[in-house]
Amino acid sequence: MGRMDGRVAIITGGARGQGRAHAIALAREGASIVLVDIADQVDAVQYPLAVPADLDQAQELVEKEGARCLQVQADVRNRAAIDDAVSRTVAEFGRIDVLVANAGIVGYGTALEQSHELFDAIVGTCLTGAWNCCRAVLPHMIKRGYGRIAITSSGLVGFAAPNVTPYIAAKNGVVGLMKGLALELIDKGITVNIVQPYIVNTPLAHSEAAYKVFVPDDARVTGKRVALTTVVAGGVARIRECSRCDDGFAGRIRGAELAERVGGQGGSGGVAVEPGAMVPHGFDVAFDATHVGRPAL
Ligand SMILES: NC(=O)c1ccc[n+]([C@@H]2O[C@H](COP(=O)([O-])OP(=O)(O)OC[C@H]3O[C@@H](n4cnc5c(N)ncnc54)[C@H](O)[C@@H]3O)[C@@H](O)[C@H]2O)c1
Repeated sequence: MGRMDGRVAIITGGARGQGRAHAIALAREGASIVLVDIADQVDAVQYPLAVPADLDQAQELVEKEGARCLQVQADVRNRAAIDDAVSRTVAEFGRIDVLVANAGIVGYGTALEQSHELFDAIVGTCLTGAWNCCRAVLPHMIKRGYGRIAITSSGLVGFAAPNVTPYIAAKNGVVGLMKGLALELIDKGITVNIVQPYIVNTPLAHSEAAYKVFVPDDARVTGKRVALTTVVAGGVARIRECSRCDDGFAGRIRGAELAERVGGQGGSGGVAVEPGAMVPHGFDVAFDATHVGRPAL
């Protein structure tokens, strides 16, 4: 018996990455799965999005878990297409219990380096797309008096991080979306939550565009231990370790929070990292992500 036996879950951005992982995990627990993904490139985006073969592979992996699976190639920015995906889900499975509004894209670079088209694509996907999906499932969930909605935000929410400004704006937006919906739906059997991942090993986080911004060229040397630091408000510093991957890319960010905090605010630990000031003990190179492009040497 799985915890999701008999349930039906829609997962957007389900072709690969975290969405695919959510789909497999839910399938393993017994849910039937609807994978929604654009599986196509959006011109302004700086790294490749999923392709139809990713959707097929995700479906295969879900079915391997013994679950039923429907795939829908649709853009979450397209309301009619999302409404149609929801109708198809109800026609195929008779119900929708779970929505994982996970589809998202990021843009890297300063405000001047990110085009209006990229801003629109990011907000359209991460924020309006999440709204479109929630809005589309709600009539059904409210009628049934049951629903579980998870929207993917970002661990960057609450940080001051430059070079991903449209993304942070959109990911902050879904926090508001979640809070408002959660309160409205509190007595209707529907919960709404957000997931705030930090750095996850997917093509969104690992692309030339990302490394250009977050790992400077002179740190991209095999074998060097790179400390990626982000100095946030109040002098709080976070340090993550990056190391060059065997496949030639710099910066497989292990996510271990090696140290955080200077001064008197929040967090724990205590390594002082002034922008550009020091290389933390045990590292060859420090890179200050707060002041992108300037190695903290
Ligand atoms: N990877 C990270 O470090 C990280 C950190 C914090 C938050 N997130 C968020 O996690 C979520 C999943 O991202 P991921 O890391 O798996 O990246 P990913 O790029 O591997 O997966 C995103 C998926 O969304 C799909 N997609 C993009 N635009 C779409 C659209 N308009 N309509 C439908 N599908 C669309 C892509 O084709 C892709 O399959 C995103 O919302 C992302 O912003 C990622």
